[in-house]
Order: sequence, then structure tokens, then C-alpha cells
Amino acid sequence: MDRIRIVGGNPLNGIIPISGAKNAALPLMIASLLTDDTLTLENVPHLADVEQLQRILGNHGVDISVAGRREGHGSSYARTLHFTARTIVDTTAPYELVSRMRASFWVIGPLLARMGECKVSLPGGCAIGTRPVDLFIHGLEALGAEIEIANGYANARAPKGLVGAKYIFPKVSVGATHVMLMAASLAKGETIIENAAREPEVADLAKCLNAMGAKISGAGTSTIRIQGVTSLSGARHRVLPDRIETGTYAMAVAMTGGDVTLENTSVDLLETAIKAIESAGAEINSVENGIRVRMGAGRIQPVDVITDPYPGFPTDLQAQFMALMSRADGVSHITETIFENRFMHVQELARLGARISLSGQVATIEGTLMLNGAQVMATDLRASASLVIAGLAAKGETVVNRVYHLDRGFERLEEKLTNCGAIVERVSE
Ligand code: EPZ
Repeated sequence: MDRIRIVGGNPLNGIIPISGAKNAALPLMIASLLTDDTLTLENVPHLADVEQLQRILGNHGVDISVAGRREGHGSSYARTLHFTARTIVDTTAPYELVSRMRASFWVIGPLLARMGECKVSLPGGCAIGTRPVDLFIHGLEALGAEIEIANGYANARAPKGLVGAKYIFPKVSVGATHVMLMAASLAKGETIIENAAREPEVADLAKCLNAMGAKISGAGTSTIRIQGVTSLSGARHRVLPDRIETGTYAMAVAMTGGDVTLENTSVDLLETAIKAIESAGAEINSVENGIRVRMGAGRIQPVDVITDPYPGFPTDLQAQFMALMSRADGVSHITETIFENRFMHVQELARLGARISLSGQVATIEGTLMLNGAQVMATDLRASASLVIAGLAAKGETVVNRVYHLDRGFERLEEKLTNCGAIVERVSE
């Protein structure tokens, strides 16, 4: 199993290119199931989760090629992928494939809309909470689907096709909003979704679906209207920049000091997080095609944050911000409101000398001037990133074990950091 070895203490200086967003690429790839035409996606990050979803889509009959070549014949970064679901050969998404990644459950929307039936294993994914699927089920039932949960599978049918309806989400869900957008695009009549997720990745999916011929308005706000159409065509779409990767590297600079330009990204995607990093002491400016992050020699200031659905502070940056706060000049509080079990990084950060206490959903962080390198264990994707950035700022050597979590969501992490002066290497066994 690979490990990442970091020798901390160097400031970061240089340029980091930001990749396409994993959490946009995944639903966009799934949208290819809605049409028998070719969907071309540019700026797709080369990540383990993307590869896993390629396997899942392949199982349904989607033909996938990379920049004109079939997968496996040479690879590059920021790739262009072509997806053609000419025929859906299998409407079952089996446990062996779905259990490894929660987002693969989302195939339920397009398969049901296009084929009128499907059988999808209940999902797996990061161990950050119970993560039920009730909102998907109720949303699709509102569109006329009949769904039965049996033997670990959701068996979904819509014998007469899906029919547009009004659905008010009782709770904001990114994934369930994606699924409703895809399903309602091929439903009869109008669907109105209230309390929809407003994440930029939802707006990106809607933009792509509209390019495919869907009629969606309001994506990016909490009310989305979808006029169903009878079929969708192919399209070409560029995946938007990864705001979580952007925020992670911005926090890394705030932790280590230095001057880094994050390329191909925009502050507009993560304003709340940018404000928090600025309050911690970093200077952040928009520059042409990116963001410049600078941190001088002063101490990091303590800042309280509460995670919330977009446009609030993202739960996917909570662990990284905790790493940053662990070196602040004072006490800060971080409240996690999205997932009930997303504090597994606390005990690992403690191994580096962080002083964090937990009370329910609130972490209290007593900042310390110096962290010290240690062996730590990556527990989930974003937690792993928090350990890496803490290691960059810690004195001495940090070894992050189980880095396969990182490979799910951070493209070329070692290379990007090394190019900015960090000492980071992957140790393979
Ligand atoms: C997406 O997950 C992201 N994943 C997550 O990123 C992110 O943490 C999360 O949104 C919140 O921003 C992808 O986009 C692939 P939700 P998703 O449905 O869609 C509850 C990462 O590290 N809920 O918005 O699965 C749920 O338990 C990942 O990249 C229900 O109760 O998240 C949670 O408490 C991790 N019933 C809350 O809603 C449901 O049916 C929000 O989850 C569905 C969700």
C-alpha cells in the first residue's frame, strides 16, 4: 500500500494548476446514460473515483474513449473523455461496483428515465456518516417511480415513464438534486424542485444537460424548473474547476507561508472558504485565470467556521481548515452540520501535536505554534488532505499511510506540491 512521506517546514512558492472538479465530473459522466449520442467531457481529472465510475458505466454498455483513444492506451492529465451509451446492455448496477463509491448510486436517475427500470445496489463510499438514500427514493417516487428496497438493492420501475411533479426536498442533498435533474429531464411535463442543492457542480450538470437539449432553469438557486423533453442528444462540455482542491492548496499556503498562484480556478467558486482563509491571515487576490495566495511570517489567526450546504463553508474543506487552525494563535471552533461522523482526522492530527477536543458536532482547537511530524493514517479523502497539509507545516518527517483515499480525489498531489518547493514523495511497497 502506498504511503506519502513529507518533510515539513518549507514554504510553498510557485504555480499549482487546479484540476477539473471530481464532484462535477462524476455526475456529468453519469449523464451520458441519458442519450444514445456521444457526450464529450473536457478537463476530466485523472482520479481513482473517475476510473471506478468508468468501470460502472462500462458495465451498463457505455463505450468510453480518452481523447479519441480507448482507455489504457496512453494517458494524460486534464483529459478529454468521450462517452457513448448507444445501447444500455444492463440495467443492474451490482454491489461489487457500487459499494466502492457512493456517487455510483446516482445511475438510478438516468437508467430509470431512459429504460423505465433498473436495479441499483445501495451505495458505499467514505465512512463519514450513515448517508441514507431516502431523499433519492422519495424524489423519484414523486416523479411516478415505484421503488422497492430488497436484499441491498433499490429496484426501481416506471412502467408508464416518469411524470413531472413538484418536489420539495426536506433536506438539501447534492446527489439527490443531481439525480432529480437527470430524471426530470426525460420526464413528461414540468418538474419543480424546491430546496435544491445550490453547489456549483449542480449548476455545471444543468449547463451540460441543457447543452444536450434539456430545458432546465434556476440551477444554482434553491428552486429549479425542468421542462421534460422526449430525448437528449450528445454535447461537448468542460468540467468546472475543483473548488475543494483550490481551497485545500490555499489552506496549505496559509499553513506553510509562501506565495502560490492557483491556476485555472476562481474565487467565485468558494467565497465563504476564501473569506475564512483571509481571516486567518492570508492575502488572496484574483489574478488572470486564477487566484494568488500569499502568507507572510505572522501567526495564523483563529477563525470559527460552521459547515453548511453551498454557499456556506464546505464540509469537504472542514478537515483541512482544522489542520490550519491547529497552528493558530488562539482558540477556534469548527462545527460540522452536514455529516455526523466527519471528525476522524482529529485523532490523527493529534498525533502531529494538534490540540483538539470534541463535543458533539463541535471541535475546539487550541492552536499551537509548532506541529511535529509523525506516522498518521488517512481515514477518508478530505481527512487525508488535512494530514498532508499539516505534514507540510510540521517539523520533521510525516508519513501518511493509506493514501489510496487521496488518489480518489487529488490529481498529481505530490507533483503539484513538489513543484512549489515542498518535500513530498510517494513510497510504494
Ligand atoms: C456530495 O455527496 C459530495 N460528493 C460530497 O463530497 C460532499 O461532502 C457532499 O455532497 C456535501 O457537500 C460528490 O459530489 C460525489 P449529500 P452527497 O447528499 O451528494 C444526507 C468528497 O469528499 N442525506 O448532499 O452524497 C446525508 O447523509 C465527498 O468529495 C440523507 O439524509 O451528499 C448528509 O448528511 C464526500 N438522505 C446530507 O444529506 C439522502 O437520501 C448531505 O449529503 C441523501 C443524503
